[in-house]
Amino acid sequence: MVCDRFGRSIRDIRVALTHRCNLRCIYCHGEGESNPGGELEASEIEKIVRVAAGEGVSRVKLTGGEPLLRGDILEVVKRLSSVPGIEEVSMTTNATLLADVAGDLKEAGLRRINVSLDTLVPERYRMITGFDGLNSVLSGIDEAVRVGLNPVKTNMVLLRDVNEDELWDLVRFSREKGTILQVIELVDSRYNSVFQRFHADVKPLENELRGLTDNVTTRQLHKRKKYFLTGGAEVEIVNPVHNSEFCSNCTRIRLTSDGKLKPCLMRNDNLVDIVGPLRRGADPQTLRELFLKAVDLREPYCKVEENE
Ligand code: 5AD
Ligand code: SF4
Repeated sequence: MVCDRFGRSIRDIRVALTHRCNLRCIYCHGEGESNPGGELEASEIEKIVRVAAGEGVSRVKLTGGEPLLRGDILEVVKRLSSVPGIEEVSMTTNATLLADVAGDLKEAGLRRINVSLDTLVPERYRMITGFDGLNSVLSGIDEAVRVGLNPVKTNMVLLRDVNEDELWDLVRFSREKGTILQVIELVDSRYNSVFQRFHADVKPLENELRGLTDNVTTRQLHKRKKYFLTGGAEVEIVNPVHNSEFCSNCTRIRLTSDGKLKPCLMRNDNLVDIVGPLRRGADPQTLRELFLKAVDLREPYCKVEENE
């Protein structure tokens, strides 16, 4: 397994399949991509993931935009889940199109899925996403659970004065459905300007959870805390903002939808083009060197922030 200059091993690759999306979430950071060019072919994504797997990456997360807008999504999942060394392919989706394909995704090799679900109130859903279709998302979640994608996690981006009061409704929902709730702190992004208005601190909520249970585990990735509540609910907290522990435990590298290795979500000044050389016929050793170069460029974002 490769480590970066800060001793962080690289185990995960987060692959943006497209920049396109059928929603317009007010907070969307677009996976930190600015004006990407075209998309990659499924075979190109496979070749790049093979290089990563050769260096010890074992998990792939498919994102977007909205990954289910790709017409070849089943082929992508099938190809990536059969790459030697890749133990798990998962996806983050808005689930508006999930109900019809959940079974096929599972069959193609998808193991688990994360669904954006910030609210259970239809009007709030429309306000946050610009889309009047909360029901299709809920059907997508039901279907994902039914076909055995496991776990199904729901992502709640905490938004001040918008959905803070829904935490316990979403906990109840996840207990009923057998899903895991991830509460995510809003990240500032140059692609939206909602941070000042909607950022809510997750600390008070975390204190509340700590008062309710002693059963807490810590994930290796980002040292995320997971609280096990009575009745079987599980709540994971993702708080990346100004959190050096988060950055110093980041085991992830990204591939942008237009084929560049991206060492950090928050930066666009250190991308490494890999699809260009691939298309020009680069040999496996050259691709490997590009991957290692991107790993070498990784540095904890919190360190960069300090220097700004
Ligand atoms: N801050 C925090 N999380 C975000 N997401 C998208 N934009 C932001 C942001 N600015 C998360 C959502 C979505 C996933 C793809 O990324 O939870 O589910
Ligand atoms: Fe962004 Fe995801 Fe919302 Fe689409 S569904 S706008 S990609 S956060």
